[in-house]
Amino acid sequence: MDNFLSLKQLTQTQLHDLLQLAQMIKAAPTQYNQALAGKSVVMLFEKPSLRTRVSFDIGINKLGGHCLYLDQQNGALGQRESIADFATNLSCWADAIVARVYSNKTINELAQHASVPVINALCDLYHPCQGLADLLTLTEQLGTLKNTKLTYIGDGNNVTHSLMYGAAIMGMKMTVVCPAGHFPDGQVVQEAQALAAQNGGSLLLTSEVSDIGEQDAIYTDTWISMGDNTSFTDIQQKFAPYQVNQTLMQQVGTPYFMHCLPAHRGVEVTDEVMDGEQSLILQQAENRMHAQNAVLVTLLAQ
Ligand code: CP
Ligand code: NVA
Repeated sequence: MDNFLSLKQLTQTQLHDLLQLAQMIKAAPTQYNQALAGKSVVMLFEKPSLRTRVSFDIGINKLGGHCLYLDQQNGALGQRESIADFATNLSCWADAIVARVYSNKTINELAQHASVPVINALCDLYHPCQGLADLLTLTEQLGTLKNTKLTYIGDGNNVTHSLMYGAAIMGMKMTVVCPAGHFPDGQVVQEAQALAAQNGGSLLLTSEVSDIGEQDAIYTDTWISMGDNTSFTDIQQKFAPYQVNQTLMQQVGTPYFMHCLPAHRGVEVTDEVMDGEQSLILQQAENRMHAQNAVLVTLLAQ
């Protein structure tokens, strides 16, 4: 593993090993408190963040490393100097680059020109750090991922794509429920379906909420992602039947609710579900750090 750009690049063994390492780091953090000693990580963010920024910063610190946060106060990435020059210069000092960018093209360009590992901390197409943390959360709750039934409902977006790849690689049974016109990217669907077939899993796409059978977990995310200029009033009615509320939770007999956060309470999910006993949202948030630390240790530790 040279970079961590998308879950699709991982074999089932690599993904399994990352999840196992994350569990080991979570269980015995002091054993890893020098894993990144002497290493510096640059965090480059074009978009806002709470969980990703804080979990990387504190996580790197817990591994004995150092991190430096760069926002866009000096102008958008690629404006003052090319992305290639940015990547080659950062590689002179940093041991890894964590980047949250608007376009997947930017993350690929960074990785192409950097001589150190690049970690995708979210782009328009993928959110692999989130996907990995969510698989960790499901593993903790269910013991195994094989044949686990996960439904994602709402807007087909970067989080959906990463969950689809992760679920497919681990042989899960995933259902994606979106209003017409808001399905995940067609190429990602094809690739995830091929991976699911190879690994004994399945990926079903539908617009019918009534198609959701009994599930292990139901997952939703914002209806409008960062960088998407869709107007809320234009989609509100179309998306209303896809809200995760207590009626839906009961209808599908789902034990767990998941959301990557930030959530829009009363929009894609009700307070009752967010704050209810079935909600795994804070376990997911905590697991961001352990999952990312497993990625950092895999990429950087001697
Ligand atoms: N889930 C997630 O990536 O949260 P932030 O946007 O706050 O980093
Ligand atoms: N799909 C959301 C995820 C935020 C963590 C977005 O890209 O804005």
